Amino acid sequence: MITQRVQKEASAPVCSSNFRKIMGHFPTGVTVVTVDHRESCCLGVTINSLTSVSLAPPLVLFCMKKKAIAHDLVVNSQSFAISILAHNQQELALECAEPGGAKLADPLLVHSYDGNFLVRGAIASIECTQEEIYPGGDHTIIVGLVTRLYSELDNQPLVFHRSRFTEVLQGTR
Ligand SMILES: Cc1cc2nc3c(=O)[nH]c(=O)nc-3n(C[C@H](O)[C@H](O)[C@H](O)COP(=O)(O)O)c2cc1C
Repeated sequence: MITQRVQKEASAPVCSSNFRKIMGHFPTGVTVVTVDHRESCCLGVTINSLTSVSLAPPLVLFCMKKKAIAHDLVVNSQSFAISILAHNQQELALECAEPGGAKLADPLLVHSYDGNFLVRGAIASIECTQEEIYPGGDHTIIVGLVTRLYSELDNQPLVFHRSRFTEVLQGTR
């Protein structure tokens, strides 16, 4: 039997800023989602809501703010790539978090096999075709079917924790 109740002071009302603060305790990697843009240019948006969903078939999801300038472009893209950033790519993460994302070109990108763009120097990338989209409150949930895997570098990932960029601390075991 559980006899103790959590202290009242540990509980916070559920508002956007408290929710963001609490969820910020959950460290994530940082990715850039790349989609085709007009004039054969590529748009990159920084995303940390990436989650793997299923192994067979291989599915991932990420969430895109409905009010984001890049929302419609990303949601209407039938294929896209997701690059997992390395610890030294914080500047790119910030650039792609600007309103509307960032228009990327050489030398930041490489062409993939299936017609998408991958971030050069990322630790790993995946290519996806859009499988489903679902409403998710003020976000749209985009589910991608993974069509190719790229492992580019044996490098440390960029980490986002409590609204800051940080790095993985190497354990001794
Ligand atoms: C580390 C980090 C992670 C982010 N993750 C997401 C995300 O998962 N989904 C999302 O919609 N925006 C995310 N953003 C915000 C977008 O990169 C970008 O700032 C936003 O789409 C711009 O919105 P705007 O066009 O309305 O200004 C993230 C930003 C940062 C810095």
